[in-house]
Amino acid sequence: MSPATATRARKKSTSPRTGASSAASPRTGARMSPTATALMKKLVNRTATIGVVGLGYVGLPLIRAIRDGGFPVIGYDIDQRKIDDLEAGRAYIQHLGPRFFKDLSKDRKFRPTADPRLLEEADAILLCVPTPLGKHREPDLSYVLNSTRMVAEVLRPGQLVVLESTTYPGTTRDEMLPILEASPRGRRLKHGTDYFLAFSPEREDPGSIGRTAAVIPKLVGGLDDTCTDLAMALYSRVVKTAHRVSSAEVAESAKLLENIFRAVNIALVNEMKTVMAEMNIDVWEVIDAASTKPFGFMPFYPGPGLGGHCIPLDPFYLSWKAREVGRTTRFIELAGEVNSAMPHYVIDRVQHALNDDGKSLSGSKVLVLGIAYKKNIDDIRESPAAEIIELLRDRGASVNYHDPHMPVFPSMRKHRIDLKGKPLTPAVLKAHDCVLIVTDHDAVDYGKVGALSKLIVDTRNAMARVPAKKMRARLVKA
Ligand SMILES: NC(=O)c1ccc[n+]([C@@H]2O[C@H](COP(=O)([O-])OP(=O)(O)OC[C@H]3O[C@@H](n4cnc5c(N)ncnc54)[C@H](O)[C@@H]3O)[C@@H](O)[C@H]2O)c1
Repeated sequence: MSPATATRARKKSTSPRTGASSAASPRTGARMSPTATALMKKLVNRTATIGVVGLGYVGLPLIRAIRDGGFPVIGYDIDQRKIDDLEAGRAYIQHLGPRFFKDLSKDRKFRPTADPRLLEEADAILLCVPTPLGKHREPDLSYVLNSTRMVAEVLRPGQLVVLESTTYPGTTRDEMLPILEASPRGRRLKHGTDYFLAFSPEREDPGSIGRTAAVIPKLVGGLDDTCTDLAMALYSRVVKTAHRVSSAEVAESAKLLENIFRAVNIALVNEMKTVMAEMNIDVWEVIDAASTKPFGFMPFYPGPGLGGHCIPLDPFYLSWKAREVGRTTRFIELAGEVNSAMPHYVIDRVQHALNDDGKSLSGSKVLVLGIAYKKNIDDIRESPAAEIIELLRDRGASVNYHDPHMPVFPSMRKHRIDLKGKPLTPAVLKAHDCVLIVTDHDAVDYGKVGALSKLIVDTRNAMARVPAKKMRARLVKA
């Protein structure tokens, strides 16, 4: 284990390292201010109250980890409906399960609120708010900046503020700190002595079984050593492994590297897919074959285009920032170009497949199977399904969809698709000229799809699980 990595301190084995009015940093030996020392003591004793801002896909799993770590939590969101749902124990993120929401609603050490003033009580405030892109693919930091302004209104001595949202290097120091320092409360306080700022990126993996926030290692980098010490004291008690880095900028950059790595590798296999298709070689079999190499290779899979709140967006946070230092990010741009061409590629494959059946896309009925950006979740954000449906309609197709997790097509930032899902009945499958698999949810009966459809265009290799002898439909991979 690297010396920078702290493994979760078990409740019983924890001994308060500090207790005096001014203690030394556990790492550097430098003296901490009395305020930092008092906060450290609360974190070590698990008596600190933790505020979580933004109760979405990231905030909620994090709250579970913090509660399991023994800390009381205040959960704040500007969306009153989420607070009502949390109080009533109603699930609004399906893959977390109804039990998760029921348990939280009964947990007396969890207080959901839409009143930011409650956060003054919090000893640590963790920001888990969206970081989308603007119209011109520029970072939209408005949520981060607005929630920092809100924190500035409740800032008091002895608070640790941590940004968890994915963003470009320098956001915590150059964007958040000036807001806090310039605020009426901040002007009376000194950063690093009275309050503390750090960055710790979220690495949530929605829908994966067992990979909870508590077991995914967490990077922690503060604006100075004291900030990092305090943030490490918190996270090492709520996640199995907290990994210390030398600055907030390293933690911010590491998160971007992780997501850029994925975007670039997905683009690589998407490009491979288009070449292999022309050569009549199954790219999925090629990837499986290459994956037998025990070193120097890891599999990534092609698909209908990038989706979700991270991979399609985050890389452009770095592209934008790189321009400030006079550098270009050609890998990121190229990956973006290849990946964003995928919905068009899929439509071309559908068009050719229908043509082989003697049909034109115009006037054909297409059933899109799966609209979520990833299997087994109900998250539509940036899902390529929306663009695919719009492209199909532009070319004259009549489109329906089925998604076991989304009975109604949700409204999206850039798309409004007024559709209700169809049930996956034999009549529905038989009534369509083509079934286009966009998301490979496990809850779909692919045997039925293979037996009753006329033509299947499969962007996820979902039909590989159906034995060839049970396939009646013609299958085209895309
Ligand atoms: N979803 C993922 O799988 C994932 C994984 C890793 C990192 N991230 C990053 O985590 C961050 C949050 O993503 P998410 O998926 O949880 O988003 P989300 O949209 O699910 O949740 C964000 C929440 O913040 C609330 N909010 C917005 N402005 C607010 C404000 N000023 N004050 C209080 N609440 C506010 C919204 O109402 C919403 O409930 C993003 O930066 C994202 O890139 C997401």
